[in-house]
Amino acid sequence: MNEQVTMDKLVALAKQRGFVFPGSDIYGGMANSWDYGPLGTELKRNIVDAWWRRFVTSRGDMVGIDAAIIMNPKVWEASGHVDGFTDPLVECKKCHERFRADQIDASKPCARCGAKDGFTDPKNFNLLFKTFIGSTEDNKSVAYLRGELAQAMFVDLPQVLMTSRKRVPFGIAQQGKCFRNEITPGNFIFRTREFNLMEFEYFVHESEWEKWFEYWLEQMKGWLDFCGVKREHLVFHEIEDGERAHYSKRTVDIEYQYPFGLKELYGLAYRGDYDLRRHMEASGADMRFTDPKTNEKYVPHVIEPTFGIDRTVLITLLEAYTEEKAPTAEKGETDTRVVLKLPKALAPFKVAILPLSKKDELTVVAQPLADRLRRRFATDYDETQSIGKRYRRQDEIGTPFCVTVDFDTLGDQAVTVRDRDTMRQERVALAELEIYLNEKLSV
Ligand code: GAP
Repeated sequence: MNEQVTMDKLVALAKQRGFVFPGSDIYGGMANSWDYGPLGTELKRNIVDAWWRRFVTSRGDMVGIDAAIIMNPKVWEASGHVDGFTDPLVECKKCHERFRADQIDASKPCARCGAKDGFTDPKNFNLLFKTFIGSTEDNKSVAYLRGELAQAMFVDLPQVLMTSRKRVPFGIAQQGKCFRNEITPGNFIFRTREFNLMEFEYFVHESEWEKWFEYWLEQMKGWLDFCGVKREHLVFHEIEDGERAHYSKRTVDIEYQYPFGLKELYGLAYRGDYDLRRHMEASGADMRFTDPKTNEKYVPHVIEPTFGIDRTVLITLLEAYTEEKAPTAEKGETDTRVVLKLPKALAPFKVAILPLSKKDELTVVAQPLADRLRRRFATDYDETQSIGKRYRRQDEIGTPFCVTVDFDTLGDQAVTVRDRDTMRQERVALAELEIYLNEKLSV
């Protein structure tokens, strides 16, 4: 765990700087509902785009889909979610608060009201969010908000195959919102009832599943390196028989050392041919592949790497958060600066243009410079407060480079570029700025 950061510090920074703040705030908020603000939206987008490039567009064996959130309810019946997507739930006999049976010690008093009256026997509680289609609210009009992305990749397989001409091994990827009526949401954006997910189903011949499982585990580690996550903050947890999801024959949970404990970050599951067989039986569609060499007809098996987007945002921020002693504007003095040492590729802004003063002779150069850079890089512009305060603000939001336009700029046609991590400053010719930044940002 990054010892410098607590959840209180991170949540405060996220709120103050507009990464993530409570949703519906003017109505008093809504429990466990969070909105991504301007900077959080950029960070999340950068994560999703980098993931998509890495796992989809840069590979010849992957294609993407973007399916409907509300699917035919038969999908969720066939997949086993209507019957099996449950958490065991107990209720305090006094205050009737509900808890996940596997997360409390039933011999202790109720964590909410303190009563020692005990808890009810565990009852299974289905996590799917139910809704109704059309104007009647009866059993025939019941539908579900998707509880996972995966099912669309299974049921769309025949159309994807027909249109993309891919052959095994290959994968179908998707990213988007999922919904689960969680009993115990909490810990900021760690567990919420609507959350963002990116995952893919990788279809293989059964004889090769172990090889591909190991391959994707390594790829997931590579992605976490890219996000700046230190290996010592991760645990690769082999899930035992009896504890895996209903569809899985092998699962490794990638766990992260959060300030609130070691908990799941991502999962890698071998789903076998469970889902495709269930959909073949329920729909009558033929989802078998034909091996072009041997003519063998077979149902492919599936390896599923799954990445929670909100948890990626959370750990990226937790890993990046740094407090360090730094000189202040007053000579000889130091104080603590907070800096988000985000991977440059993920930083919401890549560069900030800061005219030394608000005087027209500087802003008349600085504003068009910001517009010029915006064509290539996400660029912030700030002319308020002292230059020291503006540097600190950019440090706190993780901007890798600050460009100061000063009075010398008017003569030498150059600017001062400050590096977020080293705080070193360099003079760079205005005409060379894009080349300079491009080089530094692509390292
Ligand atoms: N298709 C497989 C699947 O959905 P999962 O382990 O249930 O697997 C995948 O969920 C990932 O989604 C988790 O590893 C986690 O990153 C994220 N996740 C799950 N429930 C979440 C919640 N309530 N809030 C935020 N993220 C969640």
